Amino acid sequence: VMSYSRRTRTASTTTATEDDSSDPFPSSSDAPSSSPHPPQQYLVSTAVVMSELIKLLVCTVVYIRQEYSFGKTSAGGGGGRPHQRSFSLAALLRDLFGPDSSCAKMSVPAVLYFVQNNLQYLAVQHLDPATFQVTYQMKILTTALFSVLMLGRSLSRSKWMALVLLTFGIAIVQMDGKQKPSSSSSSSSSAAHTQTAAQPLIGLVAVTIACILSGLAGVWFEKVLKGSQASLFLRNMQLCLFSLIPGLFFGVFLMDGAAVRQHGFFQGYDAWTWAAILCQAIGGLIVALVVKYADNILKGFATSLSIILSSVASFFIFDFKLTLMFTIGSSVVLYATHLYGLPDKVGIAKRAASYSM
Ligand code: C5P
Repeated sequence: VMSYSRRTRTASTTTATEDDSSDPFPSSSDAPSSSPHPPQQYLVSTAVVMSELIKLLVCTVVYIRQEYSFGKTSAGGGGGRPHQRSFSLAALLRDLFGPDSSCAKMSVPAVLYFVQNNLQYLAVQHLDPATFQVTYQMKILTTALFSVLMLGRSLSRSKWMALVLLTFGIAIVQMDGKQKPSSSSSSSSSAAHTQTAAQPLIGLVAVTIACILSGLAGVWFEKVLKGSQASLFLRNMQLCLFSLIPGLFFGVFLMDGAAVRQHGFFQGYDAWTWAAILCQAIGGLIVALVVKYADNILKGFATSLSIILSSVASFFIFDFKLTLMFTIGSSVVLYATHLYGLPDKVGIAKRAASYSM
């Protein structure tokens, strides 16, 4: 996730806001990548690539362990589990890119996520953090819409009502969190906002397109994932590999090429940078698991509830005040979750989804 811009990160100045989902690699300021900077700055483009590489590594290891045996015998022989084949690089490459791999289908969400992530960054440059977070919740509705259009889901009126309530509820929670001036006021969003001649219309257009792409990419991934027997880890390997192409070419090479040549790929990396990269990678893997074992709509409920839970945890751990707006917003989210979980009155909504592409 993220776009290309040089980020300043020093341990003392950088603070992340609660649930700043727009920016997994938070920093204290941005600067043009062409200018010479001291090497304690890291490049977001390289962090994006590293997070994709970590996901790729994890998925490759898990997939090879699932699918292949390293014993002498193959296909049901004594070397591994019955379904396992004996490992070879050619077999792995065939799984990834062979005629039965459907790999072209995975290039679509990779490009969509790439554009979406960059639009998010453009949006936070032109909108204040509250407006961005509130408008970005529209992705809950776009996701539901694409689930209906592409997966053939049918959602009853009360489920749609629950989704609209969820969108409003989490928007109220986010508005509350972002409007409070806090000691950690140097959020990347506000830093970006104040350093740019803000054009709210550009921000709103960017966030609207990002919401559409978020829904489309998520549902496309779900359709490909559930439309075949291929392993989740194979699909994720394909997604990572296709994401690495624009990440490396547009990000590291085109945008930050000069800086990388000057100070190196890992310039400015510290423990916090690695922590942010790891969080991003683990988060992406969790999203994939949620989409496989549940779906993209339920993911919207899960992330909303996690925002509320982390705010409640902040109440106990940090100096977080539970305000009236937070209470109203979280009550609406909890009610929406309850409403969505209720069985439909007239029959059971069709869940026979069409995943074939
Ligand atoms: O905002 P949204 O919910 O669309 O973000 C989903 C995030 O999950 C994106 O950053 C995307 O890169 C990540 N993802 C992933 N692996 C998947 C699916 C999504 O890393 N298989």
